[in-house]
Amino acid sequence: MKPTVAPFPAARFRRLRGTPALRALVRQTHLDASDFIWPVFVMAGHDDETPIASMPGVTRKTVDRIAQAAREAHALGIPAMCIFPYTAMAFRTEDCAEAWNPDNIANRAIRAIKDAVPEMAVMTDIALDPYNINGHDGFVEDGEIVNDRTVAALVRMALAQAAAGADILGPSDMMDGRIGAMRAALEQEGHQKVAILSYAAKYASAFYGPFRDAVGASAALRGDKNTYQMDPANSDEALRLIERDLMEGADMVMVKPGMPYLDICRRVKDSFGVPTFAYQVSGEYAMMQAAIANGWLDGPKVMMESLMCFKRAGCDGILTYFAPEAARLLNG
Ligand code: PBG
Repeated sequence: MKPTVAPFPAARFRRLRGTPALRALVRQTHLDASDFIWPVFVMAGHDDETPIASMPGVTRKTVDRIAQAAREAHALGIPAMCIFPYTAMAFRTEDCAEAWNPDNIANRAIRAIKDAVPEMAVMTDIALDPYNINGHDGFVEDGEIVNDRTVAALVRMALAQAAAGADILGPSDMMDGRIGAMRAALEQEGHQKVAILSYAAKYASAFYGPFRDAVGASAALRGDKNTYQMDPANSDEALRLIERDLMEGADMVMVKPGMPYLDICRRVKDSFGVPTFAYQVSGEYAMMQAAIANGWLDGPKVMMESLMCFKRAGCDGILTYFAPEAARLLNG
């Protein structure tokens, strides 16, 4: 469809921008608390939380406080939370066995949220990095991140999370073949209802820095993730990855990071029309918070604009650390 524009002065675009009512009437994109998945960090202990220096306003919370946060999020109309564990150093090993421990901190948080707020959709992260002595998402053998042995471990991790009550599994590891392997195992073990939101187009990005502080993986990580996460220069590859993951049984797909990759979001939505999410990652959050703290940007405005832009780019929802603050604003 070719847009039609009458010549000036028949067409004056400012007519429809003249009042809040007219602007509301012609607004194409809407943001709602139901668009958000709230990523939270969980740590051991009781009734406690610790700030994350590079992510102002974000804390690591003990399981009981995560349950409390779920109650608050639910009251705000946020439909989903995503759990990331801060694993004690003693539980980080080369074999990553803590990753599929039914009682690890992430699985305890899943159960605590489902107990406190059964309606809350609980999403998980599937990758070995919080449990890996060397900070990588997969097993390291002779300096190489090995694929197939990692996939088998990720499947065990996925089944433990499903058994703990997770509604949405989020494989973020970028190994090949993991979605198909997880889907087959879930079907076989009676977890037909568990959905997979694949981190399908996940880039090897420098914007994850503050997150790695939050989960304590920064110091551990040796080398980079360039052999498994995507090259930021590539676009067509993202579509092939999305298609591959959908064919293997992903229910929803994600583009990550968010703001610098809105072109990818748009291509994905236009090409496949599937539930598409973006992750406004820790570095994006940190950048905005730093500028806000300096008084260089207006906090509420820049937060809402950044989130709206994901919707405009075709996303159905956004993983964002701003979720509770933005929901509070949206609810008036
Ligand atoms: C773990 C994982 C990462 C993020 C989500 N899951 C870090 C990484 O891949 O190194 C980043 C999230 C963020 O930066 O907010 N695989």
